[in-house]
Amino acid sequence: MLQRPRRNRKSEVIRQMVRETHLSASNLIFPLFIIEGKRQKTEIASMPGIYRYSIDNLLREVESCLNLGLNSFDLFPNIDDSLKDKYATESYKEESLYLRAIKEVKQNFPEACVITDVAMDPYSSDGHDGIVENGHILNDETLEVLGKMALAHAQHGADIIAPSDMMDGRVGYIREVLDENNFTNVSIMSYSAKYASAFYGPFRDALNSAPKFGDKKTYQMDPANQTEALIEAELDEAEGADFLMVKPALSYLDVIKVIKDNTNLPVAAYNVSGEYAMIKAAVQNGWLNEQKAITEVLTSIRRAGATAILTYHAKEVLVNKWL
Ligand code: PBG
Repeated sequence: MLQRPRRNRKSEVIRQMVRETHLSASNLIFPLFIIEGKRQKTEIASMPGIYRYSIDNLLREVESCLNLGLNSFDLFPNIDDSLKDKYATESYKEESLYLRAIKEVKQNFPEACVITDVAMDPYSSDGHDGIVENGHILNDETLEVLGKMALAHAQHGADIIAPSDMMDGRVGYIREVLDENNFTNVSIMSYSAKYASAFYGPFRDALNSAPKFGDKKTYQMDPANQTEALIEAELDEAEGADFLMVKPALSYLDVIKVIKDNTNLPVAAYNVSGEYAMIKAAVQNGWLNEQKAITEVLTSIRRAGATAILTYHAKEVLVNKWL
């Protein structure tokens, strides 16, 4: 045999020499859940090890992450049902939980990168990402709400705005609102290819944000489609996105790869709540080795072409020095 690929695997030194994919803290973004109150830290039943924090504890959590070299955070609010309405007005009210959280984090830790989620669902009495009328999700009317929300996030210090709603035209609309208000430096990380996935279940438990009727299939993508993801990616790029995101990650590694091959923008991937829950459940049953499973998953997402990974594993891989 002239070729023996095993020669390049014969020692740890050589394996490291030929390794194609590397993971580091700088690639990781840690999603954090926020609740109202003081000294609150409540675990999410379907996401062992992940908590909802009141703002005081959120600041402690951010500080401990920064000390580990984990510098990027994506914030999500759990809003009391009494504050939800059809138009998600709580999302841009001065002094709302979310806006206070953004401001506090940036005031206390200006060096942290704060990514904010733009979508109506945590604040919507319908539990949808858009305005609902007669059972339909309105697109263009929703853009106005998203624009107000994005502007409020920018005014409170957001570094990157991440629209996760999947309305058509929202990246361009948000870019225009930001620019008109002199927030030309605030970035947009677009959830470009976001699929109507079963893997968001635990997240909706965390935020109590599940749709009150129907599903999200008229705006989130059909899991059967890959080419369509390129239409979404091209539109977002043309509309001014700074990052293109694929979500979920694991069942969509091919989508990460095809978008990566067709753009010069950095690609992000969201290793979602259900993907986290599956690993934790198997580990709790003694069916998987935690460290090996998690590092393999994160490496595969990087290998597929994601520069940045949003993952609930971000902190534990650093605490345990698994990278
Ligand atoms: C809502 C939103 C969702 C997630 C992030 N933003 C859920 C949904 O679309 O229903 C899911 C994240 C996760 O599952 O970890 N706009």
